[in-house]
Amino acid sequence: AKTRHFKWEVGYIHWSTDGEESVVMGINGAFPGPTIRGRAGDIIVVELTNKLHTEGVVIHWHGIRQFGTPWADGTAAISQCAINAGETFVYRFKVDKAGTYFYHGHYGMQRSAGLYGSLIVDVAQGEREPFHYDGEFNLLLSDWWHKGSHEQEVDLSSNPMRWIGEPQTLLINGRGQYNCSMAAQFSNPRLPQCKLRGGEQYAPQILRVRPNKTYRLRLASTTALASLNLAIGGHKMVVVEADGNYVQPFSVQDIDIYSGESYSILFTTNQDPSKNYWISTSVRGREPNTPQALTLLNYLPNSPSKFPTLPPPIAPLWNDYNHSKSFSNKILALMGSPKPPIKNNRRIVLLNTQNKIDGYTKWAINNVSLVLPTTPYLGSIRYGINNAFDTRPPPDNFPRDYDVMKQAPNSNATYGNGVYMLKMNNTIDIILQNANALGKGASEIHPWHLHGHDFWVLGYGEGKFSDKDVKKFNLKNPPLRNTVVIYPYGWTALRFVTDNPGVWAFHCHIEPHLHMGMGVILAEGVHLVKNIPREALACGLTGKMLMTNKHN
Ligand code: C2O
Ligand code: CU
Repeated sequence: AKTRHFKWEVGYIHWSTDGEESVVMGINGAFPGPTIRGRAGDIIVVELTNKLHTEGVVIHWHGIRQFGTPWADGTAAISQCAINAGETFVYRFKVDKAGTYFYHGHYGMQRSAGLYGSLIVDVAQGEREPFHYDGEFNLLLSDWWHKGSHEQEVDLSSNPMRWIGEPQTLLINGRGQYNCSMAAQFSNPRLPQCKLRGGEQYAPQILRVRPNKTYRLRLASTTALASLNLAIGGHKMVVVEADGNYVQPFSVQDIDIYSGESYSILFTTNQDPSKNYWISTSVRGREPNTPQALTLLNYLPNSPSKFPTLPPPIAPLWNDYNHSKSFSNKILALMGSPKPPIKNNRRIVLLNTQNKIDGYTKWAINNVSLVLPTTPYLGSIRYGINNAFDTRPPPDNFPRDYDVMKQAPNSNATYGNGVYMLKMNNTIDIILQNANALGKGASEIHPWHLHGHDFWVLGYGEGKFSDKDVKKFNLKNPPLRNTVVIYPYGWTALRFVTDNPGVWAFHCHIEPHLHMGMGVILAEGVHLVKNIPREALACGLTGKMLMTNKHN
């Protein structure tokens, strides 16, 4: 195993993500940030300097569990103090499991500002993937607004709330086209044909392939809002990896990918080699108002400017949830994957509601809308500091008579920052329960992401979860994931073991939803955490503690 060093400066830059110049949060002067690549067992060291001048920053390594290094999880107010303008923080952590990951800002709405990049972990030296391929590509998917992230933040926090609307552009590896289309003759409404020379910041990266080979396509979605569907014109895809875990291979025409998820798919270049093909990404689960993102699958030796004869693949209808559910249900662990314990020690049911608090629109979990404290939890719990957060634990359930199918005013929610304190080496079940949002007949998809763990997805169901549903849990080959969706008016059951001392966020990965309170905090075995770096503690009440020097 190796130690891989990176030196990064985070700063605002002018960048043309989609043909319109914006101010973007970049790393070392570029957007998206550099790809980190290592092998399982490597140590990654990122020396991060904040060049934003007027705001703090942190970076979360999404999908990396941070065993033994919970302070490197990169969550402001949870695992560390935000890195002040001008200061440097060193992230040092092990990448213990091969897979497709990414990283992103985790302070305010810095992910929406463009602070993200890919993190790819290859199998350890001498080991092999359980599938074969001749070459690989990596596509990091995101969505982009022309309105800056600070203005979006103010909009969402206003009374009445101003919704940010749908993204202007979908980006593939940080590139999209807003004023033109790659496939103008097929697009509707008609945008002019893009005239790109290829050197533009927003020109798509073309995938160059040779006929009759198998390629691995790594996909990860760091969208702020959009659920996506990706397809390769004329080609089947075989799904082999999800969130850094191998799955039982299965074949599909198109793949759904929600914010926070990653996949690897294999495709074989077995189509007419005299042609080129489209790769398209479209919005799912919300009435789309954003054109597809396109790039080209270029069969060599054809010219990349040779136009595909087929139109770009069309995504399934945005609200065809059965299509999405059937995809979710096909995802099962590869034989030989770790199995969940048969029994759980504790069950936490989390009701997801949209609420009004003093006129402000919020999301709440069991009626608590998360507002992070000023002192990061990891330090305040580790050092037993009083008054750092609400010591009353949030509820493990919601009132039995709550009707999840009905529109409700949900006027009794409160702000809170309490913690679910979990015992070490316990098996925890979490039932995510969806409900009707504030609008009539409105219930949305929420992709929930857990820090510090992978969990087994035991099942999905419709309506309100009941004890009888436990019998339907898949304990045989449930997939391990770090992100899972709840469907409108449905529930999702997951299970994990508390084997990783630290404080871990569990939240909807839609950035505006998290900003509006849609998350909870879990803590386990914090007394076992050793050697938290001082810089992670140097704010709030732990900062004061350091100054009085009682602990060092
Ligand atoms: Cu990728 Cu807490 O998120
Ligand atoms: Cu959400």
